[in-house]
Amino acid sequence: MKLATIGSGNIGKSIGARASKAGYEVIFSARAEQHALEAAKAAGNNARSAGVREAVELADIVLLALPHGAVEEVLSNVRPLLKGKVLIDATNALTAVSGALTNGSATSAAEEIAKLVPEAKVVKAFNTVFAQVYASQYPEVKGNTVSVYYAGDDKESKAKVADLIRKMGFDAVDAGPLKAARNLEPMALLKIAPQLVPHSSAKAAGWG
Ligand SMILES: NC(=O)c1ccc[n+]([C@@H]2O[C@H](COP(=O)([O-])OP(=O)(O)OC[C@H]3O[C@@H](n4cnc5c(N)ncnc54)[C@H](OP(=O)(O)O)[C@@H]3O)[C@@H](O)[C@H]2O)c1
Repeated sequence: MKLATIGSGNIGKSIGARASKAGYEVIFSARAEQHALEAAKAAGNNARSAGVREAVELADIVLLALPHGAVEEVLSNVRPLLKGKVLIDATNALTAVSGALTNGSATSAAEEIAKLVPEAKVVKAFNTVFAQVYASQYPEVKGNTVSVYYAGDDKESKAKVADLIRKMGFDAVDAGPLKAARNLEPMALLKIAPQLVPHSSAKAAGWG
């Protein structure tokens, strides 16, 4: 099974490397070719890098690991190539000071992404766990396997994502249909917000 990452930063690099260790054929892509190449080298296991279009073309599963602000433009460039493919949305649509979600609670980034790329089978996943956990060798919390939530409307695609999560060593938790991303995205905020408290930008936003 081939997995492409769009984005080779904290999330793309760590999930890609873990998937590669789990036996997936991983193709990293990024804005800067060099960053994708470095992620591939760090992952080892025959992982490789490519431009975004080539990576998407080659993949069965595509991991969207971009800052939310870049999502629309990047997807518009690869939209036809995503036809029939599983598109994992790991993004969090954070406001500039990260105290809130740009979408509010009447929709979610995942649902908006599904509207942008109706050809793809969008599954929300991986957004509630920090990249450091994906990168750690033994990702357990007090002896318990870390839960990774996923949500989507297409049964087969969800099964593929659940399989990926399990093979990466995590507990795969089905959160429901894609609409359940409205629950998963604020869950990420729960983890991020306490880390912002000491920062002045968070104070400006009324946090801390
Ligand atoms: N960090 C976490 O712990 C965490 C946890 C869960 C979810 N998330 C979410 O995951 C997403 C990625 O976060 P991150 O921490 O991995 O961000 P990051 O470290 O800043 O990495 C972002 C990646 O996106 C690439 N990128 C940006 N614009 C691009 C474009 N136009 N075309 C192609 N690639 C582009 C960057 O390429 P270059 O390397 O070439 O600059 C970089 O590789 C965000 O939505 C975030 O909210 C993050």
